[in-house]
Amino acid sequence: MGALDPLFTPLQIRGLTLRNRFVMPAMQRGFMEDGAPSKRMVEYLRRCAAGGVGLVICESTSPDHPSGYWAPVIGRLDAGTLPAWKQVIDAVHAEGAKVFIQLWHPGVMRKVAEHHPLARFPTLSPSGLIQANRPHGRAMNPSDLDELRNAYVRAALDAQELGADGVEIHAAHGYLMDQFLWSETNRRDDRYGGTTLAQRARYPAEVVAAIRAAVGADFPLSLRFSQFKEVDYGATVAGSPDELHEFVQLMRAAGIDMFNVSSRRYAKPEWPESHHPDWSIADWTRSFADAPVMTTGSIGLNVEMFANLFDDKDPDETPVERDLLELARRAQQGRIDLVGVGRMHIANHDFVNKVREGRFSEIALFRKQVHLADLGEAIASEEPGFVEQARKNAAPD
Ligand SMILES: Cc1cc2nc3c(=O)[nH]c(=O)nc-3n(C[C@H](O)[C@H](O)[C@H](O)COP(=O)(O)O)c2cc1C
Repeated sequence: MGALDPLFTPLQIRGLTLRNRFVMPAMQRGFMEDGAPSKRMVEYLRRCAAGGVGLVICESTSPDHPSGYWAPVIGRLDAGTLPAWKQVIDAVHAEGAKVFIQLWHPGVMRKVAEHHPLARFPTLSPSGLIQANRPHGRAMNPSDLDELRNAYVRAALDAQELGADGVEIHAAHGYLMDQFLWSETNRRDDRYGGTTLAQRARYPAEVVAAIRAAVGADFPLSLRFSQFKEVDYGATVAGSPDELHEFVQLMRAAGIDMFNVSSRRYAKPEWPESHHPDWSIADWTRSFADAPVMTTGSIGLNVEMFANLFDDKDPDETPVERDLLELARRAQQGRIDLVGVGRMHIANHDFVNKVREGRFSEIALFRKQVHLADLGEAIASEEPGFVEQARKNAAPD
């Protein structure tokens, strides 16, 4: 048996079988046209699927609600975009991979220009806060909460009806669902706020449960979450293993089948003072979940994504083999199940095939300037203020 075999064995999620453990995580690229996947995007994702990956998670996509997007390059799931989404799904399936659509809402991170027609719709979030003392938009009221829950359900049903293999609820990186989870952005005094993570997770859990009730028992639902935020790299939502445990149980009970745990560096120990000093947040999550867990963050790269994309610090080393050996070891030990390879998939659409065939010397390094055309407006549209704030709060590592 080869050392990387644990990453090449199939994995079952509910009734779905993935051909291996490699995932292309959601990456907003600016290839959407009026909210719909363009021909370029269909072809791009088809090539990635042909490159050997087991699961493609399509980029962050807003449910049909005017507070969920602000530019034509941002994906939407609504009546007008469904035929293009069908082309993505069919193209990925034709190459033997599976496909999830990531359901996302920016919440307070929406960047609509003052005179844009969409600006007449309010920017919505749990408490109208970007961070503790940075107000923006307004807090969601009960009818906003109902409307958005229904929009998520409709989007998940649309994805299911189109033939997607699952959906992922994006509750990471400081976007709407994560704004509920984080104590700095959730200051609500109704049943959706509170001092514990389990209390703040109530609305996201209700959305998950409503989706589960609509799509039935067999349709896989993934939850992506992270400790870090785009506006604060050092943020935490789960302050302790116990808090994480409660959160994982709550989400499992609501209907989550898989956890996509996003980190800036996959190997970073989460609680070094604990009895598992080397466990990452993904390892901890796996220890509490009787469900598959995916890890992400700088796999095969020596520079994490924010320093790379926002500070123009390019990786100069590709520790692909070393990282994958370590991840295979963790998979073998039952600490993780899936690996999300982001930027290295941008640089190598056939990353997985190269690894399988041992062609490590052919794996190209991701470089921002070289791959700028593939990053599109996702990076160009970052508002400087947000990034500066993140830098200020950047963890020293
Ligand atoms: C250009 C770009 C766009 C991204 N867009 C999304 C997104 O739409 N949804 C999401 O959950 N994460 C997004 N991410 C984060 C990636 O999914 C992934 O977690 C991150 O790139 C770290 O993995 P890596 O170090 O292998 O690149 C994006 C990353 C990049 C580079």
